[in-house]
Amino acid sequence: MLEALVGRVGGNANRLLRILRIARAKMVRKLTTTLGRSLRPFSVRLADTEPVYCQALPTNQTIADVMKGGWCSRFPDEYAVEAGRLAHFDPTVEQRVTWVHDALPGGVRGLSVLELGPFEAYNTWQLERLGAHPIVAIEANNLNYIKCLLVKEITGLQARFLYGDFVRYLEQCQERFDIVWASGVLYHQVEPLRLLALVAEITDTVFLHTHYYDHEVISSHPHQSALFVPARNVIGMHDGYRATLHYRSYRASRNAVFSGGAEGFSYWMEQEDILGFLHALGFTRSEVFIDDKTNPNGPGMCLLAHRNGNLPMSHPCRSPL
Ligand SMILES: C[S@@+](CC[C@H](N)C(=O)[O-])C[C@H]1O[C@@H](n2cnc3c(N)ncnc32)[C@H](O)[C@@H]1O
Repeated sequence: MLEALVGRVGGNANRLLRILRIARAKMVRKLTTTLGRSLRPFSVRLADTEPVYCQALPTNQTIADVMKGGWCSRFPDEYAVEAGRLAHFDPTVEQRVTWVHDALPGGVRGLSVLELGPFEAYNTWQLERLGAHPIVAIEANNLNYIKCLLVKEITGLQARFLYGDFVRYLEQCQERFDIVWASGVLYHQVEPLRLLALVAEITDTVFLHTHYYDHEVISSHPHQSALFVPARNVIGMHDGYRATLHYRSYRASRNAVFSGGAEGFSYWMEQEDILGFLHALGFTRSEVFIDDKTNPNGPGMCLLAHRNGNLPMSHPCRSPL
C-alpha cells in the first residue's frame, strides 16, 4: 500500500517511502495485547518478503527463526530455542490444561481433542504432553498457522494442524471429540451462539476461556467501554434461546500482531447467557476455574462444561506416549 501511494506521489518517492516505513514501524511497535498479555512487534510480512536462505547449521533455533521477532511464547528450555518471552508452554504459569487434566477422571490421557485457534500451539503441546490424542487444531491466521507448524517440527507434536475457519469445519464435521478446546475464541465471534451450538453437536465436554460482557464492570472502565457500541447491539436467537449480544469493535487493535477473528468486530455475550445457553444445549454441569472481573481487557472466565453423566474417560490405548 505504501509503495502504491509513493508511486502516485513521484518526485522524492524513496525518501517519502522511508519516512512512511519508519512511521508504520513505530505504529506497529505501539500496538499490543491479546488476553491481557503484551505482545512483541511482529517483524515478518510474508507478502512483502523475498525468500531468505539460511546458511547456518540447521537447528531448532533456525526453525524458530523463520518467524524471528514474531513469537510471543517462550519455548521450554529442553528445545534450546530463543523465541518469545511469555511462559505459555510452562504449566506452572499457563495452568489451563492442568486444571482440565485434574478435573477429569483419568485426566486427558487418550482423549481426542478439537482445539479452536491454537495460536502458538502451547495448549496443544501441553495437552499432548499429558497424553491427549488425537488432537486436531484449527487456525485461521496464516502467520499463527506457520508458527504452529514450526512448534510441531521443533517439539515433535503429533497433533494435526489445519489451516482455515473452525466455524466452517464445525458446520461439516461428522466426527465426535471427547473435548472441544475453545480457549480465547468465543469473544472474537460475530455469531457466538452459533459457535456454541455447533460445538455442542460434536462433543459432550467443552473447555471455554472467554471474556464476557458485564455492564457494571465495563462501564466503569473508560478504556474498555470505549470499545463497545451499544447502538449496534443485537438480540441473538438460537433454538428459542435469546441473548443480548454486545457489539465490540476490534478496528483499533487490528495490525500484524492481532490474533483475534477475521472481522473488525465481534459480539460479546453476558456471563449469564454463556452459562444459560450452555445449559440449554445440555451442558448441565460446569466447573468454573476462574472468574476474573479485573482483567484489564474485560471480565473473563475459564470453565469446563459437560453433559450430565458424560464425563470423558481416558482411553489409554489411544495415547501416543
Ligand atoms: C486470542 S487467540 C487465543 C489463543 C489460544 N487459544 C489461547 O487461548 O491462548 C485466538 C486464536 O484463534 C484464532 N482464530 C480466531 N478465529 C478463528 C476462526 N474462525 N477459525 C480459526 N482460527 C481462529 C486466531 O487467529 C488466534 O490464533
